[in-house]
Amino acid sequence: MNALPAAAGVGVRLAGAGTALPDRVLTNDDLAALVDTNDQWITQRTGIKTRHIASNGTTTCSLAADSLRAALEDAGMQPRELDMVLLATMTAEMSCPSTAARVVHEVGATPAGAMDITAACSGFVYGLNHAETLIRSGHYKTVAVIGAETLSKITNYEDRGTCILFGDGAGAAILTADDDASRGCLAQTMRSDGSLWGELYVPRTADDLPESHDGFNGRFNTLQMNGQEVFKFAVNTTQAIIEETLQKAGVTAEDLAVVIPHQSNRRILELVKKRMDLPDDKMVINIDKYGNTSAASVPLCLHDKRVAGELKEGDLALFVAIGGGMCWTTSLWKL
Ligand code: COA
Repeated sequence: MNALPAAAGVGVRLAGAGTALPDRVLTNDDLAALVDTNDQWITQRTGIKTRHIASNGTTTCSLAADSLRAALEDAGMQPRELDMVLLATMTAEMSCPSTAARVVHEVGATPAGAMDITAACSGFVYGLNHAETLIRSGHYKTVAVIGAETLSKITNYEDRGTCILFGDGAGAAILTADDDASRGCLAQTMRSDGSLWGELYVPRTADDLPESHDGFNGRFNTLQMNGQEVFKFAVNTTQAIIEETLQKAGVTAEDLAVVIPHQSNRRILELVKKRMDLPDDKMVINIDKYGNTSAASVPLCLHDKRVAGELKEGDLALFVAIGGGMCWTTSLWKL
């Protein structure tokens, strides 16, 4: 597959970013009171120290709306300037209506278009690619992409293999048309392999279980995961798609200002970093604070980098994510 040429005259810029996190923080010691685990094991195997957990009426919808309000404020824009809101989540409020439609209403952006994206941990980066294409087409001027999750509601807190990993949160980005056509996405990939669906899934009933029930943690409507297989797949595939994307755009890893990856496990990211010989400061890792927040992790990293003043106009930023489906994706931007 080849990169599409940019439409003449229309560039895309990141106008603002914002986040929302629930107040309640769950530490590794808190988890050790629930399951047979300890801070040392969790820190060594995952890099996670704390994660935020929704309580007191905090929902995917409320987190998404709060992050969008913060991003609009950062962009200096009004809700009515939004043409479309894409909300990536695997913890939507319900299957109908989309959570995105409720968020649009809540922030006062009606009648902007609204759509949920279901691509698990890859959802936000899939969303960036779609938003960029909508704007470059000239049909839409300003599109918000949100990644929002309340993974705590699909986590089995009796399963030590999964409950240590996940956290709740949301992040949003506002993308808007720019006169400089060289700005925006230079190259991207969006891929899937559904034969691997049983590695990471949320069964509703026994009908949803794969033929071999191996690894089912005994509780429906919670996340089931073959951790070791996902780990190997993530390391190999992340490196491969980063290299493919750089090649498509005709740039090298040295040209990148930053790699903003989905936060799955610190060891996965460290291995990719080592294999690709990336300097420490080039890859954003904040999994220690938030855990794996699925679709929210990439915008949480993006926001941390912006707040630190470490992203400049013209920088090359590579977004990369991998998750259930299996789905994997990249988006290489000239900011
Ligand atoms: N605390 C203490 N021990 C634990 C534990 C925990 N929370 N979870 C598992 N263990 C034990 C296992 O029971 C096993 O014990 P045994 O050797 O006596 O059988 C041992 O630790 C090793 O388990 P294993 O599953 O091989 O550990 P791991 O090094 O693969 O780490 C994960 C487990 C889940 C942290 C790791 O596989 C992972 O992060 N995978 C990727 C997950 C991911 O990224 N998912 C989201 C994708 S978007």
